[in-house]
Amino acid sequence: RKKVTIQHLHQLRSTGTPISMLTAYDFPTARALDTHGVDITLVGDSLAQVCLGLPSTTLLTLDEMLHHCRAVARGTAHPLLVADMPFGSYQAGADDAVRNAVRMVKEGHAEAVKLEGGAEVADVVRRIAQVGIPVMAHVGLMPQRHVALSGYRVQGRDAAGAREVYEAARTLEEAGAFSIVLEAIPHQLGAFITDKLSIPTIGIGAGPGTSGQVLVWDDLMTRWHGRKAKFVRRFADVGQEEGRGVQAYIDAVRDRSFPRAREEGYEMGEGEWAKFL
Ligand code: KIV
Ligand code: NA
Repeated sequence: RKKVTIQHLHQLRSTGTPISMLTAYDFPTARALDTHGVDITLVGDSLAQVCLGLPSTTLLTLDEMLHHCRAVARGTAHPLLVADMPFGSYQAGADDAVRNAVRMVKEGHAEAVKLEGGAEVADVVRRIAQVGIPVMAHVGLMPQRHVALSGYRVQGRDAAGAREVYEAARTLEEAGAFSIVLEAIPHQLGAFITDKLSIPTIGIGAGPGTSGQVLVWDDLMTRWHGRKAKFVRRFADVGQEEGRGVQAYIDAVRDRSFPRAREEGYEMGEGEWAKFL
């Protein structure tokens, strides 16, 4: 298999071949995505909730992101490796954002960065892209703004809201974003924006008409027991299997059926044992 490049992603878009993107927060997960041929691996800041147990992505630090991003990078050979810029790492001006995007590359080993926002982050997107770090934009539901948005809610549901999301997407494309995530918007709007833009759109709760799809690993694997968003499909039930394993282990320890002396352990020769005694 070949390394996934931005050029390749544009080819997938123009030939109507759906792009698959999935999150990873550690080395073994990164290996699984790589082995099975995912196009884009995202170290999402959903890391905060599903992996670190924090109540919101806004609490994730840049150093925490860098630590996990490096682990994912070690397991990523073929997919394009994109990582979220944590809340606070790109809000204090373009110079600071560029400095932090450079850290994402140098210390996190990310190949591209993703950040949330509309026209107000266009300058930041342009400045980061200009130094040669590809930027993925993210509009619609922006989890880093869940308090300002009064919760994790569908965006662009009325005509004015839809226009706002569409205009934002256009502006970010013009600013130099190589791709854009559309989160929790009506499927008509997802298809419309995809049709109007010339960069790949990656949807999550944006319907089937986008250039690609992304989901959070723990959601699709059923390892996360927070409220399930409507757009999540559970493709496997790893949570149930993990629970079965933990319970079976505890039972086997308690009833002394684990470990078996010979088959699951080491034995001293009889002669040596006699000497020892
Ligand atoms: O943080 C994340 O996992 C994301 C994707 C769901 C797009 O931003
Ligand atoms: Na994110």
